Amino acid sequence: MAQGETTMFVIIGASGDLTYRLLMPAIFRLWQLKQWTSLVVGYAPDDWDDAKFRGHVRQGLEEFAGDFGDDAWNEFETLLTFCRGELTMNDFSRLARQIGSAGAVFYLALPPALFGTAAQALAQAGLSALSGGYRRLVVEKPIGRDLASAEALRRQLHEGWREEQIYRMDHFLGKETAQNLLVFRLTNRFLESIWDAEHIRSVQITYAETIGLEGRWRYYDQAGALRDMLQNHLMQLFTLVAMDPPATWAAESLHNHRTEVLRAVRPITNPEENAARGQYAAGIIAGRTVCGYLQEEHIPSQSRTETFAALKLKVDNWRWHGVPFYLRSGKRLGMDWAEVAIELKEVPRGLFGEGHKNWLIFRMKPDEAIDMVVWSKEPGLALSTRQRVLSTPYRREQEREYSAYEQLLLAVVQGDRSPFPRYDEVEEAWRIVDPILTSWSQGSPESYAAGGEGPQGQSRLMESGGQWRQLGESVTD
Ligand code: BG6
Repeated sequence: MAQGETTMFVIIGASGDLTYRLLMPAIFRLWQLKQWTSLVVGYAPDDWDDAKFRGHVRQGLEEFAGDFGDDAWNEFETLLTFCRGELTMNDFSRLARQIGSAGAVFYLALPPALFGTAAQALAQAGLSALSGGYRRLVVEKPIGRDLASAEALRRQLHEGWREEQIYRMDHFLGKETAQNLLVFRLTNRFLESIWDAEHIRSVQITYAETIGLEGRWRYYDQAGALRDMLQNHLMQLFTLVAMDPPATWAAESLHNHRTEVLRAVRPITNPEENAARGQYAAGIIAGRTVCGYLQEEHIPSQSRTETFAALKLKVDNWRWHGVPFYLRSGKRLGMDWAEVAIELKEVPRGLFGEGHKNWLIFRMKPDEAIDMVVWSKEPGLALSTRQRVLSTPYRREQEREYSAYEQLLLAVVQGDRSPFPRYDEVEEAWRIVDPILTSWSQGSPESYAAGGEGPQGQSRLMESGGQWRQLGESVTD
């Protein structure tokens, strides 16, 4: 695109929560960093005008974007306009006239049930056609609720849009840790030579949250932890650990490698052995009593939705033969703790005793850092060992933190598809979890007390000699 050419970022569903809390604050910060030049068109059925939309955005920024002065706002608000309309071809045709031949992104900040309708109506209004600048469509997770519905949505989107125009947001791919998994792996020579079944015993990916439903009962009770966290976010982290190094950083090359490792995941034929689920009961978190899932407002008292899910994956290729990958995530656990932990095999002969376990841990929560658990001689007269931790935060203290939305929105306007899953990645991820969803349509999740480590049943997944790392497991010297 020539410099100075107008581009538009259209948010379909601009009066909703996603726009208010995440999209506009991220756009504003990018603008403050001089990274954002697109005009923002808010599109919604509400009886709003430019002034009303701007007032609404300003309120959200005051709540979520930190301090900014009137001068900054006065300049920023000139980027914002509002277009009233429904998700119909007629209304989108008015939008099309406003856009003309400008390059444009259409961000569907809508309930997932409306993705197909909106994408088709946009295309019918001619908005997906490449007559001038670029045309891109952004959809958020969930991408379907199983393999069949994901495929149905793909067909709908592909009726009017080419795959290269579709950006599927998985905000985990914009997180520092996700990006660092590959950067750290592929820039440090000593790692690639041990990145295989010969040296790695297991990989544990944990995303533990203290929060409960946060008012999202309508979505969550239909989704559950497996769909909400494992099929997408944790599967992406798994992919970044397990994929082969690509030859180039080109998006297609990354997608091919990511898809290939997902394809190599052994189909789960026995969910009883390879998956575990739980639902939180009342308990205490950080000294505060919280109710159980079934007592949450609006949740049916018979709900069987899981609020905790764990999975064991095996990858049928040379690199990972026999190595278990454990993935788990749950709500209302004892602490906010998230990590990707790589467990190395012990040295073949313990000259200085046994039990010298090495870990390489990519910590995500509560703070982001890399820890390497190593062993060294205990200073003194005896020849004994002690554990040390080589630890480094990703960011230096004075360095700014960028949100995943900032990273990913910038990638969308720059046309960088590398941090967005291509359809075949999504498809493979559904293929992996589909048998578990089918199996879980029967029976009930195991109850676990809020504030703990999750259901007992998760230990069933562990292979002999292994155990889950504890939440907050100390890796200090
Ligand atoms: C969302 C899930 O995609 O990710 C939420 O729907 C979850 O249930 C959230 O809490 C976790 O991500 P983050 O970045 O907020 O820790």
